[in-house]
Amino acid sequence: MMENKTIAFACDHGGFSLKEPILAYLKGQGWDVIDFGTWSDERCDYPQYAEPACRAVTEGKASLAVLVCGTGIGMSLAANKIRGIRAACCSEPYSAEMTRRHNDANVLCIGARVVGEGLALTILEAFLTHAFEGGRHAGRVAMLRELEDRF
Ligand code: RB5
Repeated sequence: MMENKTIAFACDHGGFSLKEPILAYLKGQGWDVIDFGTWSDERCDYPQYAEPACRAVTEGKASLAVLVCGTGIGMSLAANKIRGIRAACCSEPYSAEMTRRHNDANVLCIGARVVGEGLALTILEAFLTHAFEGGRHAGRVAMLRELEDRF
């Protein structure tokens, strides 16, 4: 489905508990993972981890990114500051599917203190196995890009 099966990953200490299962899942599905940390549960600052993972997406080194923090919200706020990023914070699979199909989201954010491992992987699967539908949604995504130019 994805031409470039390379995905960026980053988490902070709040998301660290999901790192290993998410990386194992991604590798098992044939994704090459660029790991931007963090590498322990030592306290750290999520914007510093969101930025390089999102940069990999905007520079075309990865087609998508997965960001995990405690709630998923801090990561999504940071990611959505970056031109060209459309990050969705999801805690169930329907939203993860629809944000690919309708919003062409290129970053999935998950809260490790919100969802357990099983649900997180189901959300991730929904995100990775659906594609942007284009059509009427393409114009709306173009409007999102225009918003970036106006501020
Ligand atoms: C860290 O305690 C926590 O604030 C962070 O992981 C994230 O949930 C922020 O949105």
